[in-house]
Amino acid sequence: MAGARIPRVPLPAGTRLDTLAVREGLPASAWGENSEALFLTSSFVQPDAATAAARFANEEEAFIYSRFTNPTVTMFERRLAALEGAEACIATSSGMSAILLLGMGLLKAGDHVICSQSVFGSTIMLFGREFAKFGVETSFVSQTDVAAWQAAVKPNTKLLFAESPTNPLTEVCDIRALAALSKDAGAWLAVDNCFCSPALQRPIEYDADLIIHSGTKYLDGQGRVIAGAICGTERLVNERFVPVMRSAGMSLSPFNAWVVLKGLETLSIRMRAQSDRALALAGWLEAQPEVERVYYPGLASHPQHALAMAQQSGSGGAVVSFIVHGAGVATARRNAFHVIDSTEVCSITANLGDTKTTITHPASTSHGRLTEEQRLSAGITQGMIRVAVGLDDIEDIKADLVRGRATL
Ligand SMILES: Cc1ncc(COP(=O)(O)O)c(C=O)c1O
Repeated sequence: MAGARIPRVPLPAGTRLDTLAVREGLPASAWGENSEALFLTSSFVQPDAATAAARFANEEEAFIYSRFTNPTVTMFERRLAALEGAEACIATSSGMSAILLLGMGLLKAGDHVICSQSVFGSTIMLFGREFAKFGVETSFVSQTDVAAWQAAVKPNTKLLFAESPTNPLTEVCDIRALAALSKDAGAWLAVDNCFCSPALQRPIEYDADLIIHSGTKYLDGQGRVIAGAICGTERLVNERFVPVMRSAGMSLSPFNAWVVLKGLETLSIRMRAQSDRALALAGWLEAQPEVERVYYPGLASHPQHALAMAQQSGSGGAVVSFIVHGAGVATARRNAFHVIDSTEVCSITANLGDTKTTITHPASTSHGRLTEEQRLSAGITQGMIRVAVGLDDIEDIKADLVRGRATL
């Protein structure tokens, strides 16, 4: 919930990002706590019936009921908005429910969406299958080919949706170019900023209208809770998303909001440390004879390296994908499984953004529900492995990946 009448934490004008990350939110309660309070309450007591009526009618801003207003959730929203350079933010129960809220708030039957074909598998399912049931059509296009986005524009195009870098291929889109195209088309551009987080990339600086987050990933950063958010203008958040949240209730629980809020405090230093380790791992992987190809925007060999460096504060992020050698689909899959199963340190899980390094086989996990054709058009082959580098010593991660190679 965004709003002027609930007081802001008193910070001097021009307070910088790292300070906002540990301080932006609401003022402390009457007890003066230094660590943000967790308001684990479903409702809020109103002083009298007339005030309650005014608050329910949105004539007065106050906390009413935690489906749509809660101080701990507001703290998280304000802090994330500040980090993204956005006017406002609305928190959701997961990254996918942020995209659901996005669609419910912006689209109606007969509208058209253009979406990168390389986005997270569930995002493809949500746009391609679930929204289609309600009469919203989606065209999937190449993440990196701006001309393909342009060619897909129709008179009823309302939303362009990209994720940059993508999961797991780390394809980078030119956010500024897509923003210009969406403005010409009279549509909104939403960017899923999950892989970079505002510590590395702030899509609003490149004219995106809306930012999507899976708070489950780097914002929490320690693999503890599921969370999500949309950032954008006050107007879009208050007019398009707050009413849907109030009716549909894909709300973030105060407990999860508190966890993610505290995660934001260390976001910047975690992202830097994890990205440094990822760069070291990617360079090392590139030199291994068993590795066919490495996907990492921080490498000079990445097709959008220059764009990534400009858009992502000179960093490639913390996710590295690679393909192990293997002639034929079955052998490639067997070899990838073998490398994954030989690890003793990495966590075999499809989550990413954790301090613990995670390893997964995208074709059978995060993108397992897609058809083989959808997977191949997104470039996800059976030999591909994705490593989301955490804070483990990178030498231990290299040693872990070497364990599987002897028997390949
Ligand atoms: C890029 C991206 N966006 C969105 C999501 C969905 O987030 P959540 O799992 O919090 O619903 C994920 C999950 O992996 C993701 O990788």
